Formats: sequence, C-alpha cells, structure tokens
Amino acid sequence: MRMKCRRNIISYIISVTLFSFLVTLYVIGLRQNKQIGTNFNLKPVRFKVRRDVHSSKKEVNNLSKSLVNSQKGNINTKEQRKEHFGVILDKKVQPSTIAPQYSNITFDRPLNVYIVEEHHEVIPYWFGAARRGIIPKAGNVLIHIDGHSDMYTAEVLPEYPLFRWPSDKQLIYLMQRNDAFIQAAAMAGLIDRVIWVWPDWDLPNHDQQYTLSTYSLGWAYVISPEKQKTKHKTFCFCIQNNGYRECMSVQNAEKEKTEEDESGFKIQYKNCRIKKQVIVEEVHEQKMLQYLTKSDWLKDNKNIMLDIDEDYYGCTYAIEPLLKTNMSYEKIYQFDETVAANLCPASATHEKESDYFLMQLIGSVRIKRACAINPNLKNSTKCLQIIKIDLLHTFSTLLTEKVAEKSINLCPNVSQAFIHNLLSQMGKLRITQLHALQKTGFCSITSTKTLKNQYNDKFGICFGANTPKNTQIFEHSPTKNEIIKRTMLLKQILKKIKYFSPNIVTVCRSVRDGYTPRNYFELIESSIITALNRTMDRNLSLHYDRDLIGGKPGWPSRHKA
Ligand SMILES: *[C@@H]1O[C@H](CO)[C@@H](O)[C@H](O)[C@H]1NC(C)=O
Ligand SMILES: *[C@@H]1O[C@H](CO)[C@@H](O)[C@H](O)[C@H]1NC(C)=O
Ligand SMILES: *[C@@H]1O[C@H](CO)[C@@H](O)[C@H](O)[C@H]1NC(C)=O
Ligand SMILES: *[C@@H]1O[C@H](CO)[C@@H](O)[C@H](O)[C@H]1NC(C)=O
Ligand SMILES: *[C@@H]1O[C@H](CO)[C@@H](O)[C@H](O)[C@H]1NC(C)=O
Ligand SMILES: *[C@@H]1O[C@H](CO)[C@@H](O)[C@H](O)[C@H]1NC(C)=O
Ligand SMILES: *[C@@H]1O[C@H](CO)[C@@H](O)[C@H](O)[C@H]1NC(C)=O
Repeated sequence: MRMKCRRNIISYIISVTLFSFLVTLYVIGLRQNKQIGTNFNLKPVRFKVRRDVHSSKKEVNNLSKSLVNSQKGNINTKEQRKEHFGVILDKKVQPSTIAPQYSNITFDRPLNVYIVEEHHEVIPYWFGAARRGIIPKAGNVLIHIDGHSDMYTAEVLPEYPLFRWPSDKQLIYLMQRNDAFIQAAAMAGLIDRVIWVWPDWDLPNHDQQYTLSTYSLGWAYVISPEKQKTKHKTFCFCIQNNGYRECMSVQNAEKEKTEEDESGFKIQYKNCRIKKQVIVEEVHEQKMLQYLTKSDWLKDNKNIMLDIDEDYYGCTYAIEPLLKTNMSYEKIYQFDETVAANLCPASATHEKESDYFLMQLIGSVRIKRACAINPNLKNSTKCLQIIKIDLLHTFSTLLTEKVAEKSINLCPNVSQAFIHNLLSQMGKLRITQLHALQKTGFCSITSTKTLKNQYNDKFGICFGANTPKNTQIFEHSPTKNEIIKRTMLLKQILKKIKYFSPNIVTVCRSVRDGYTPRNYFELIESSIITALNRTMDRNLSLHYDRDLIGGKPGWPSRHKA
C-alpha cells in the first residue's frame, strides 16, 4: 500500500548545510512581493543524492559531510548568509527582544481548536475557516508541528479542482491521504509557506537543524498503460534546495523511463508544468524557539495557521502489543483477512458496532478459556454461566440481528462460516494473545470522510498502516518523562506563536493510522490542549470532529476490554 510508505518525503531530500545565494535572492524577493514568481531562474542541479529512510545516522553524517566538503569555496560564510538572508542565524536572543510590538494586543474572540483523527481531515476546517473569513484565502503560513513533514502529493482524479479553490463537494479530492493534504491546500492557493517543526527524535532524518526549500507544484501528463494513447494528468512537484533539485510524481510521467522507488517516480523538470510555489522550512524544535525570537523571521505575519499532530511526541507500531505476545504475522494476517473479507462497514456507526461485536466475541472466548484453565474460577457464577453458552450459535444470531437492524454491514462475499472461522482461529491463540487482539481493536484503515480507493477501503485489526516488517516510518517510543519535557518545550514555542495570533488551530490524533503511541494518547492530547490554553491568552473553543475514532474520549477508552 502506498499510504504507509510516503509520509516522510522531505526527509529523503539531502539538505546541504549552508544557504545558497540563490535561495537568498528568492527569499528576499518573496518578502518584497508575496506573489511568488514562477519564472525564477534556476541554477543547474549539482547534487542528486537521495537518502533512504533506512540509512543509519552514521551513513547520513558521512553523506552530508561529503556534500558539505564539495560545497567549500562557495558563498557560505556566516556573514554572507547573514547579509543575504537577513536573519542572524546563530545569535543568542534575549527574551526581551521577543516581538515587543505585539505584546499589548488583546484577543477578544475565543480561539477555535479543531481536533481531528487523520491529518487530511483538517481540510474542511481550513477551507471552512477561509470561506468564513476567519483566515485569508491565500498567503497563509502553516506552522506544522509534527513527527512527519506530510509534504507528499495526491493523485489527479477527473473531478479534482486543479489549482483552483475547491467547492464544498470538491474538498473530498483534497482528502486522499494523511500525508498529501498540505500540498493539496497549497495548490488550491491557501498556503504559501510551510514551517515544519520537527521533534529532536527525528534527527537521524535531517542533516541540519534548519533547511529552506522551495516546492514547485504542478502537473504532468501520463500515458496510462492500459488505455494506450489516452493522456491523463498527474501531480508533480520539484523540491529545490541549495541548487539541488528533484522532481517527483505519484505516477510515471509521459516520455519518462524512470524507475519507481518507495516515494514515487522521478520526473524531469521540463515535464512538470509548475503552477504554484511554496516555501518549505524544516526547523528543529529547539531552533524554532530561537527563530521565533528573531523579529524579522516571521515579521508581523498575521496569517498563521497552527497545526499540531500528536505524533510529534512519538511514532510507534500499533501492532506491537500483538507481536509482544509472540503471535505470528501469519496468524495476525489470517485473522485480519478473515475480518476484512466479511465485515464491510459503510459508516462510522458500522465501524464502531463491528469493533464492538468482535470485542465481545473475543472477550467471551477469553473468559471461557480462563474458566477452563483456572480451577479457582471454575465455580464462579460468571464461569458457570458462560460455560453453558454455545458461542457459535450465540454470536451467529447476534450478528444476524445486528445486520437486520443495519448497525453492521456485511461484505457482498460474506462467508457462511465467518464466525466458525474466527472461533477456530481463536482456538489456536493463547489468552494473552486474545487479550492483545482486544487491546488493538478493529477499525477501518481510513475514515469514511477519506476519498476511498482499493487500498484504503478495508476493515480489520486496528494496527495502522505500518508494521516493523513493512515500514518507511521512523519509530520512536517516548517515555512519560519525555512527554512532559516535550510539552514544556511546546509551551515555550506556543507562547511565542501567540504574538502572531493564529486564528485557527488544528490538532490531529493519528491514532487510527497507528502513529501516535496509544498508551500515551490521553496524556499527549490533554498536554497539547492545556499547553494551548495556558499560552494563547484566549479562551479556547474546542471542536471535536464527528468522526473521531472512539469519539471524543478516543480509541483506547472506547469500550472496556
Ligand atoms: C563513508 O565512510 C566510509 C568509511 O568511513 C567510506 O568508505 C565512504 O566512502 C564514505 N562515503 C562517503 C559518501 O563519503
Ligand atoms: C502597543 O503599545 C505601543 C506602545 O506602548 C503603542 O505604540 C501601540 O500602538 C500599541 N499597540 C496596540 C495594538 O495597541
Ligand atoms: C516470546 O518468545 C521469546 C523467545 O522464544 C520468549 O523469550 C518470550 O518469553 C516469549 N514471550 C511471550 C509473551 O510468550
Ligand atoms: C466446584 O464445585 C464442585 C461441585 O460443586 C466441587 O466438587 C468442587 O470442589 C468445586 N471446586 C472448587 C475449586 O471450589
Ligand atoms: C468472493 O470470494 C471468492 C472466493 O472466496 C473470490 O474468488 C472472489 O474474488 C470474492 N469476490 C469479492 C468481490 O471479494
Ligand atoms: C482553560 O483554562 C481555564 C482556567 O484554568 C479553564 O477554566 C478552562 O476550562 C480551560 N479550557 C480548556 C479548553 O481546557
Ligand atoms: C473567557 O471567557 C470568560 C467567560 O466566558 C470571560 O469572562 C473571560 O473574559 C474570557 N477570557 C478571555 C481572555 O477572553
């Protein structure tokens, strides 16, 4: 599945230690004129080095060193950068210099905070806010605090509003994947500049604490292999960073013979018809704190959109509890596929009810097993009751009832032996494994709001898009202490962002897709909300998305296992 592989495209891009004169000019030009010129002269590409996500930190350093060395003799002294870029990169900033001109602004309206499950679900809130005039329709700066850049691109579909402002009905085309919504919003004109604040634990994916790139977004023609000679469009984007440039697309462009790699197809610059440019800055969280105190970095920008992903705190494998019980991948996938082939929820209610049904089934099997094994339990009322129950009959009847009342939806291909099949698989599992199945739960790969395709329209064990065996993401499992420390840093960052008075805040849970550590989800979310409440000097108006998996309380506490 593509979805699991592509979160971190920006981290593939080799970034060079020092800013080039080219980017300097570009930024100066950008400051003077908010419209980004599309006919900017480009230097020839000098490097073309891609970094594999699997490469170790050692290799990365080795690589970057070689690039830096090859850069020597260029215009990269600190003074030159300072002169050209206009910001003082390494100066220690005194607290008193923090944007004093804004310290007396009062905020009367409450600050709207929208909490969504998957990151692309911010799209209706962003565009809704722009439509109602809460944020401007163009020229916004997105501060994206996240464990991942989310800077990938989606696919062109016939109804896609290409480089246009989308209608309400068209918003769904911008909601294809959890890592392609920023480019989509930028292509529609909403965003001009992205500041990705990355956590320290993502360091192995970066060569420097700060990089600035330009993303040129456009489209290219593709010849579809099936229908010879019919042309269709694909999105492409060119990332330019210090003279290094690379263009990518999801589909192979016309006349290109490039191989597909894990992040898509490389395409030639001339084949990508550029329509929009975005500045993308990647900033280490500590560096962000320093930069925010520079009076000229964000200037008096009042078009700030603040966006926080809970996976900024860590990124884990939701399948881990199952693997820890030594349940084999084979057994996990077999169970998953049995569920997927028979339960096909078509709404959030179906999804919730299907999960609840399976939780009850597994729970009953577990109790029955415990009763059979443990002599101390045998004579308990619970055991005496459950021992009499024929699980196959009971749960087949229950399923039929649920289907009749339309709270569960079966797949067209449902097997008569569905429950029997589940029971026989569970017969081979240990109690701890059954418990782990309950702990992990069952969910759809993506929400009902997402534009569905053959890859994301599946219901099964809720282990997210990544497993240790099959992943491109960078894992980081935080301790409680680390979460507390990171919250302190986040508060400091937010205190400074307050001066730019963001008018919209989006918070993404990333629990369904398995990124945010589920054992700490509640702590992480409450820490973020409290941090916002304490720092923004405004009352918060919290809006919980209707389709949050597990509702407002969230996945781990959706029903007691
Ligand atoms: C990285 O280091 C190894 C050993 O230290 C060396 O053989 C290799 O050539 C280096 N690679 C680069 C790109 O400098
Ligand atoms: C903030 O205070 C300064 C001086 O104390 C004043 O010049 C400025 O107009 C004030 N700004 C606002 C928005 O009230
Ligand atoms: C899983 O297997 C390993 C090695 O066979 C063993 O050390 C460990 O105790 C097992 N864990 C469980 C929960 O059974
Ligand atoms: C359970 O009940 C049976 C019959 O009533 C009795 O023979 C047995 O000793 C009891 N077992 C325990 C563990 O209490
Ligand atoms: C239905 O099941 C059959 C056999 O199990 C399989 O060959 C077929 O592809 C399935 N159809 C759908 C639509 O899933
Ligand atoms: C923010 O803090 C205030 C004062 O401590 C409290 O009354 C309010 O409920 C908090 N709001 C949120 C959304 O947590
Ligand atoms: C927050 O709301 C309360 C009651 O609604 C109000 O009294 C208070 O002034 C508000 N605070 C701010 C900072 O707007």
